[in-house]
Amino acid sequence: MKGKPKVIDELNFLLVDELTAISQYMVHAEMCANWGYEKLAEKIEKRAIEEMKHAEKHIARILFLEGKPIVSNLNTIHIGSDVQTILTNDHAAEQGAITEYNKAINLCTEEADNGTREILEDILTDEEAHIDWIEAQLDQIEQMGIQNYLVEQLG
Ligand SMILES: [Fe+2]
Ligand SMILES: [Fe+2]
Repeated sequence: MKGKPKVIDELNFLLVDELTAISQYMVHAEMCANWGYEKLAEKIEKRAIEEMKHAEKHIARILFLEGKPIVSNLNTIHIGSDVQTILTNDHAAEQGAITEYNKAINLCTEEADNGTREILEDILTDEEAHIDWIEAQLDQIEQMGIQNYLVEQLG
């Protein structure tokens, strides 16, 4: 089915964002694993895999709309230097994703592409769950201190 060019471009824009998030979160998960914070590493790895599923959905939808998925671009990756900056940088990435998904959903409404809009709404729900988890971690760090938090993350 031939898709609207604006929608296909937007899906490619979101695809780059997802591919960037996968790379950033994979590195962060492995950094946490390297430090022995296995519980945290597993959670971040799981989030990276969820972003991969989002990327797959975009690729499938672009192909369905007879567009060409672009997988060779990445945005700037923000690698943290410790657990706190890892979480802060991932929070910024999720905040950016939520803003972009909301904009993309509005575009789909304007372009009368409700099939794509529904896919994006599902993904937006996942991104909101991601930021919710990160905010809970940042709250815990503030309440119990980083050292107590890190003890909880050991494998
Ligand atoms: Fe995502
Ligand atoms: Fe996310």
